[in-house]
Amino acid sequence: MEAQEFNEILQEKTKKIDRIIQSFLPEEKGYQKTVAEAMNYSITVGGKRLRPMLMEETFRYCGGIEEELPLLEPFMAAIEFIHTYSLVHDDLPAMDNDEYRRGKKTTWRVYGETMGILAGDGLLNYAFETALQAFELCCGTDREYYTTVSYPQYNVQQLSKAMAILARKAGIYGMIGGQTADIEAERQEGILGKEQLLFIHEHKTAALIQAAMMIGAAVAGVTEEERLGQIEKCAYNIGIAFQIQDDILDVVGDSEELGKTVGSDAQNHKQTYVTINGLEQSRRDVKDLTEEAIVILDSFGGENAFLKELLLSLVHRRK
Ligand code: IPE
Ligand code: IPE
Ligand code: MG
Ligand code: MG
Ligand code: MG
Repeated sequence: MEAQEFNEILQEKTKKIDRIIQSFLPEEKGYQKTVAEAMNYSITVGGKRLRPMLMEETFRYCGGIEEELPLLEPFMAAIEFIHTYSLVHDDLPAMDNDEYRRGKKTTWRVYGETMGILAGDGLLNYAFETALQAFELCCGTDREYYTTVSYPQYNVQQLSKAMAILARKAGIYGMIGGQTADIEAERQEGILGKEQLLFIHEHKTAALIQAAMMIGAAVAGVTEEERLGQIEKCAYNIGIAFQIQDDILDVVGDSEELGKTVGSDAQNHKQTYVTINGLEQSRRDVKDLTEEAIVILDSFGGENAFLKELLLSLVHRRK
């Protein structure tokens, strides 16, 4: 695929995902108006939408059909809500204390710390409220749905699997577990071990990327543990590579392009993949992990040229 063609498709797909997310946003009204505003600000201010995109593309790669895409859309919005909540809380003074995100002031800088905490909580809960709408489509009693579409009952199993993945990968055995280890490591004396650093990267970052790809596969009908495990392994590599690149960009990135403050890790005296392994080794590892991910993906036996190109493009991402 030519670079120009890839970029055009990427832009088009990002816009489509933005529209899907938009359709699920909470209304800004009532006494809870402020928290809804802070949630919507955090979501709509920007972001690459990588996780919903990986979800949709993995769904296609695993043979998911266009007619069943509406069952996936609530999950696509949900994963972006959970990811965004993780950023809103990650930026709080008690955590990374950052003032810029997605090219704008962070949520807590605009709405205050208290509302930053509540907007994060709101997004996490709202993610599950949103994902559950897929069940309504599949087996709800809403007449409006039944007149237009009909989804077979067996989809309930696939959707339940997807819910379980979402819940686990976001929680203490996933992203929250990683953030805990990340914050505690800041106060640790001495150099972090390789295993410890990989635990942090796997959980704080790879977990949500795994959730995205595994949910795409599950909703497409992949429910056998072994097949899902292949997707999980592929997404592990992509996730670790993604966080290494994030650590690289925190050192050599451009704030303007990145939309967040460069040097935040150094400011927090954080040991990262780059401080431990150096820039050159880090860059090599991003490339190697990605190539290995593509080999795993190929062994799965699906078809999606755009997905492969997307994974490769992350190696050289500048934002
Ligand atoms: C940033 O994620 C946090 C990490 C897990 C490294 P992204 O780089 O995907 O952030 P957005 O969604 O594009 O803002
Ligand atoms: C954050 O890692 C991963 C999350 C779960 C939010 P970082 O703290 O490095 O992410 P950025 O650099 O602030 O986006
Ligand atoms: Mg952090
Ligand atoms: Mg941070
Ligand atoms: Mg970072």
